[in-house]
Amino acid sequence: MSTDLEKLSEFVVVANRLPVDLETDEDGGKNWKRSPGGLVTALEPILRQRDGAWVGWPGVADEKVDPIVVDGLRLFPVELTSQDLAEYYEGFSNDTLWPLYHDVLVAPTFERSWWHTYVAVNQRFAEETARCAADGATVWVQDYQLQLVPAMLRELRPDLTIGFFLHIPFPPVELFMQLPWRKEIVKGMLGADLIGFHLPGGANNFLFLARKLLGLKTTTAGVGVRSALGHVDFDSRVVKVGAFPISVDSAELERQSKSESVLRRARELKEELGNPEKILLGVDRLDYTKGIDLRLQALKELLDEGRLDPEKYTMVQLATPSRERVQHYIDLRSVIEEQVGRINGDHSQIGRPVVHYLYQPVDREELIALFVAADVMLVTPMRDGMNLVAKEYVACRSDLGGALVLSEFTGAAMELRQSYLVNPHDLDGVKNTILTAVHQDPKEGRRRMAALHRQVMTHDVHQWAESFLTALAPPGPLPDDQFVTERESDFARNN
Ligand code: ADP
Ligand code: G6P
Repeated sequence: MSTDLEKLSEFVVVANRLPVDLETDEDGGKNWKRSPGGLVTALEPILRQRDGAWVGWPGVADEKVDPIVVDGLRLFPVELTSQDLAEYYEGFSNDTLWPLYHDVLVAPTFERSWWHTYVAVNQRFAEETARCAADGATVWVQDYQLQLVPAMLRELRPDLTIGFFLHIPFPPVELFMQLPWRKEIVKGMLGADLIGFHLPGGANNFLFLARKLLGLKTTTAGVGVRSALGHVDFDSRVVKVGAFPISVDSAELERQSKSESVLRRARELKEELGNPEKILLGVDRLDYTKGIDLRLQALKELLDEGRLDPEKYTMVQLATPSRERVQHYIDLRSVIEEQVGRINGDHSQIGRPVVHYLYQPVDREELIALFVAADVMLVTPMRDGMNLVAKEYVACRSDLGGALVLSEFTGAAMELRQSYLVNPHDLDGVKNTILTAVHQDPKEGRRRMAALHRQVMTHDVHQWAESFLTALAPPGPLPDDQFVTERESDFARNN
């Protein structure tokens, strides 16, 4: 171990995944590659700025990897066996908690053996973290895969200041109560000094549960229309609970979007797509929460009905492979690929597919060029904690071009009120809104984008981290509700 890695860390991020995955190439060589998802996008610049350590899984099973510095980041890998992968990651995290927390879009599986493995793996993460954190360090535990870590870590290291942030929605109480291990999960999170959610609705749900399920005393200081901030008295401590909407590295995205190479690539992309009048874009992990199938259905119907001309409009859909051994994801991939095949079969010409579909991650520069080239960005999840793609698109549009179609069921919708908001359950509404965005008056488009861009530029991921960590730092005051600038609708307040 190098000296740098022997040094204990004052600031530690703990997440299921490291920011990079270990990959083995055809010759058996090992490479580190950026890992998927919004959590990594958001936290990587934060860790870089604060010179901390990151504890997480390197993305492959049965691989013992020593602590290592990759691209300037100090990484502490946690090993997962094939059984852990099947039961803790694919099972409890992604086939129990993920669907339960996302409105039960598919039925969650409650499997006792998965729960036991979830407990054991959370314990392993807590132990690894306890080993690399300096005396009195700040540890920031991330997301639904590690909800028991705060309490386990506190047991091992009472000297630490522990924060927990949930990157996905925290469900309504009626749904959460289905979970056979509901008390254990809430107590696990209460091991933290501060528990953060994206939206006030999630914070409220949690406070309600702490009262109803555990009979704890809660104070809802500052719960109002615009924020939910409160305290729970637990185990002779006061646990703070609050809403902290996550964001992106806006200035960096804006800078890259204006670079000569990105602008050139954006022009090339348009040419490679056959110079369509307008480009529609979707960028997602292939996940049933994202509404990819819904937007393809909307596109198909618009083409079938002759309301969109396939010679003038092209759609690009990027889908990053995700959780490829979980059955719901396998099924969804088939559905989407059949939809793409059918649309192209019915409406394309030789050399001019209407839908360009890539089932692969693309590199950052290519992605930013696509954002710059896209006239209409389609973000249509059935449920999403935040959705960083929407914010990335807006950050890349300092030219005030483009239009954002955004599902009301994303966290981002609460801030991005000037987008073209849609209810993803209303297919006709989605179709009409896509057409409105495609045909928007340029002046109206610039007005909307100016407001969106301002919001994202003034509320970036550094501010998010700063506000969470300030509230966490003892004796930290609870933060102001500075993130939500627009008036919340009743809908948003309940979500
Ligand atoms: P989630 O965290 O559920 O995947 P988000 O929208 O919050 O959803 O974050 C997704 C992140 O992954 C964004 O930073 C986005 O740019 C990136 N991403 C998604 N799809 C791709 C892709 N095909 N290629 C490269 N990056 C992608
Ligand atoms: C979402 C979750 C993250 C997760 C990411 C990618 O953003 O909130 O915790 O890392 O999706 O999913 P994966 O299962 O590949 O880690």
